Amino acid sequence: TNYDALLVETRGAVGLITLNRPKALNALNARVIEELALAFEAFEADDAVGAVVVTGSERAFAAGADIKEMADKTYAEAFLEDFTPTWRRLLACRKPSIAAVAGYALGGGCELAMMCDMIFAADTAKFGQPEITLGIVPGFGGTQRLARAVGKAKAMDLILTGRMMDAAEAERSGLVARVLPPERLLDEALEAAEKIAGFSRLAALSAKEAVDVAFEGSLSEGVRLERRLFQALFATEDQKEGMAAFVDKRKPAFRNR
Ligand code: HXC
Repeated sequence: TNYDALLVETRGAVGLITLNRPKALNALNARVIEELALAFEAFEADDAVGAVVVTGSERAFAAGADIKEMADKTYAEAFLEDFTPTWRRLLACRKPSIAAVAGYALGGGCELAMMCDMIFAADTAKFGQPEITLGIVPGFGGTQRLARAVGKAKAMDLILTGRMMDAAEAERSGLVARVLPPERLLDEALEAAEKIAGFSRLAALSAKEAVDVAFEGSLSEGVRLERRLFQALFATEDQKEGMAAFVDKRKPAFRNR
């Protein structure tokens, strides 16, 4: 695939996607969103890739959906265009993903980061849902994912005032997993992704699936699914290997079987 708006490469067992529209602060136009879906699908299909990292530039992860592309849309055009099926292709990726965010993650940029399984932030990161300042509301899942990530009070604060929050506030409120100096951001994300990719893929995909249910279903449904996944992993060679290695005091050699 030829990508216009992304740089797509593998680093070891990690698929790395870099948003690459620097002049527009990585604003998400239709092309970027389609290419993101293609890149996630390519990594999902690539057995050599065990985890995915999405990043932007030093100045911006992504400053939102492309306002210039949206400005003149009618309701009918917005309704018919609907990016939901495209985002669903990205969200269908079963491999764990990390958003490595420096600079602005605003609007659709913040929503893209939240579609990844966790967010690592440089201390320069600024998160926000400023849609209200444009006379709209978040449209790529922000009202739902931000509320689940940071709770009602802060989600309302951010979405109703349009203000930005810095990396420290984002970490404090549970949106961000780790805050790092900018020069460490990508390396730390790649190292964490490489670590995840080194575990049994059966375990990694099961873990992601189970945690995701915590945000979609009821507690009892989630606990039931977790128990089934836990039990099912005892049918794998990787579980035997992982536990035998612990007992033998050696490193496990997982084979994803
Ligand atoms: C299109 C954008 C853009 C965007 C920045 N640019 N954000 N273009 N869409 N979302 C462009 C600018 O027009 C400018 O282009 C260049 O990038 C640099 O931006 P500046 O504004 O000059 O930079 P700066 O003064 O540093 O301010 C940075 C900023 C500001 C605070 C991030 O750019 C900003 O407020 N951007 C918009 C943020 C936003 O409202 N995002 C939410 C979008 S709505 P030129 O050609 O002038 O150099 C959304 C909805 C999602 O995301 C759901 C939809 C369904």
